[in-house]
Amino acid sequence: MAGLDTHYSARDIETRILAAIRAAGLDPAQCLSPEDLAPLDHFHTGGMRASRELQALARIRAEDRVLDIGAGLAGPARMLAAELGCRVDCIDLSADFCVGAALLNRLTGLDDLIRVHRGSALDLPFPDHAFDVVWMQNVGMNIEDKRGLYAELRRVLQPGGRFAFQEMAAGAAATSRFPLPWATDPADSFLVSVDAMRAMLADGGFVAECFDDTSDAHLGRTGADAAPNALTLGVFVDNLAQKAANARRSLQEGEIRLVRGVFRVP
Ligand SMILES: C[S@@+](CC[C@H](N)C(=O)[O-])C[C@H]1O[C@@H](n2cnc3c(N)ncnc32)[C@H](O)[C@@H]1O
Repeated sequence: MAGLDTHYSARDIETRILAAIRAAGLDPAQCLSPEDLAPLDHFHTGGMRASRELQALARIRAEDRVLDIGAGLAGPARMLAAELGCRVDCIDLSADFCVGAALLNRLTGLDDLIRVHRGSALDLPFPDHAFDVVWMQNVGMNIEDKRGLYAELRRVLQPGGRFAFQEMAAGAAATSRFPLPWATDPADSFLVSVDAMRAMLADGGFVAECFDDTSDAHLGRTGADAAPNALTLGVFVDNLAQKAANARRSLQEGEIRLVRGVFRVP
């Protein structure tokens, strides 16, 4: 079993990121834009387009305090900070990804709006009701204790706060295609059905504003997410082509489903 530490490790991530930025014809000494970096740092299905759609669905405003759970390299956090001006706290288990996120925050001049914390979604180092929005993209698949996760998210959200997320759900039959972008082997993949996810969120006290299965819409956009240059997820994700192909095939075969939702705390 590889384990999540290994799956989400990327040795010398700063060196790799800086080399990729230069190879893409950009100067790390000039202030980079989140858009320039988007093919590198939105590590989820649909890339920056999906992040923009989720931002609109969740109606995020400049004054919202946002927590990005499992933020990775924090591309979505920079998008929110740059476009709306809101403050974002990022938390992630991966030490390497936290280092990469902090570097990219500095290179985009957004480190005053974004804080990076290393830690677990199941034990958040924040007081009760600290956030207006909890944001989470392609992370829930790694978390077995979903009831514990939802309880912790609810604890840190204000009354009226929103949980905006996308993730993979289980399809009709379990996928046996590994590695996947979120897990090297089945030991780190915890998918539940769309109905089970909805029920657990309701049990956790969340009220659905929207909850959609976007699998077919995603599959209909063939090639739309192809990265055009040296800045790709492959800078820090091993075997990216194989993982992406396994995910796509699993989605095509109905073994996994792509869902997104915005749920509110009453
Ligand atoms: C597929 S990546 C998505 C990264 C980011 N959300 C994005 O969309 O670019 C999944 C991330 O979730 C993080 N993660 C997984 N389980 C976690 C947990 N229990 N607590 C915090 N982070 C977690 C991983 O370290 C990894 O960075």
